[in-house]
Amino acid sequence: MENNLIELTNKLQTVLASISSYESLDLPQIVVVGSQSSGKSSVLETIVQRDFLPRGSGIVTRRPLILQLITQRQSDAGEYAEFMHCRDKRFFDFDEIRQEIERETSRLAGANKGISRTPIHLRIYSPKVLTLTLVDLPGLTKNGRKKRMLTILIFLLGDQPQDIEKQIRSLIMDYISNPNSIILAVSPANMDVANSDSLKLARQVDPEGKRTIGVLTKLDLMDAGTNALDVLMGRSYPLRLGFIGVVNRSQQDILTNKSMTEAIDAEEDFFRQHSAYRSIASRCGTKYLSKQLNSILYTRIKEKLPELRSKLSSLVSQTQQELNQYGDPAFSSGDLHRGSLILKLLTKFSNDFVAAIDGTSSEMS
Ligand code: GDP
Ligand code: NA
Ligand code: MG
Repeated sequence: MENNLIELTNKLQTVLASISSYESLDLPQIVVVGSQSSGKSSVLETIVQRDFLPRGSGIVTRRPLILQLITQRQSDAGEYAEFMHCRDKRFFDFDEIRQEIERETSRLAGANKGISRTPIHLRIYSPKVLTLTLVDLPGLTKNGRKKRMLTILIFLLGDQPQDIEKQIRSLIMDYISNPNSIILAVSPANMDVANSDSLKLARQVDPEGKRTIGVLTKLDLMDAGTNALDVLMGRSYPLRLGFIGVVNRSQQDILTNKSMTEAIDAEEDFFRQHSAYRSIASRCGTKYLSKQLNSILYTRIKEKLPELRSKLSSLVSQTQQELNQYGDPAFSSGDLHRGSLILKLLTKFSNDFVAAIDGTSSEMS
């Protein structure tokens, strides 16, 4: 049931992405936020259990990536991905997915340092994932003193300074200020959470910490003799959804091609054997994180169903009205065709949604 509903929401999101009313539906989504090198890509790749994200120093993620994970039965077509911008093609090779993300990023954001607000939509079908929708955003950059000086210098020299940090901040704010966003705030454990950029930003839009979930990475890199138990137990920083600790692959692990399975096993061992985390090991790690995210998303979508239902039915009638105007000779037959296609899809998803809602409510009673 959980996966069905989330999958249906995914489909709806895709259908609606192609029409203008998309924004007004405001579907629940999980947005990943963190400073550069905090471990965002690593967390996403461990959740997917594949390497598929572009790597490198500097700002690598330069367009929002809307990542829809869909649980696939082992017997089905296996593990593959699709992009919304080239839907006819199935990607079975995850290196090719990385290359396609890079190509698509450069296409709109330029080859160098620019960012674009237009998202890339990627869907991954796999037996290893729980159905989830995640949004990856550019990392927060530190506004170092040196960099500021350089920006001022460039400004004085008359070159247009592209204030990329400001752009990234405003892009992140756009996503996380949406009350339907669940904020996955990534912070490295080898820094004080009080100074975490992601938590600072999350607090601005979610002051009571109701829709922020903390992810503490790099627990293996803490100074000997110290631990993050206070943070993980919720004693240091108040978040309703709590903190989950993870251990991702280190740079060395990546260089030596440590597999995802090995990494997940090593992560489990780390928590089970650690004197401070042993007692909470079942509530730590990437597997637990995926489960929590899946269940948070499910709860959110369920809460939104009545609202979605009425919004959807008004969208259907609105589209019907627009379509009626296509009788007007001012519209081409292409418009008419596209319009009726959209209406068909909308009606179908609307019906599916109502069925899902009824299924959910009868399940609850
Ligand atoms: P991003 O910039 O936030 O996407 O960060 P990345 O996921 O690219 O990680 C930056 C670097 O930190 C990479 O070299 C990772 O291998 C390393 N890293 C991330 N998480 C961990 C962790 O939990 N433990 C260790 N040892 N290294 C990590
Ligand atoms: Na951070
Ligand atoms: Mg990254």
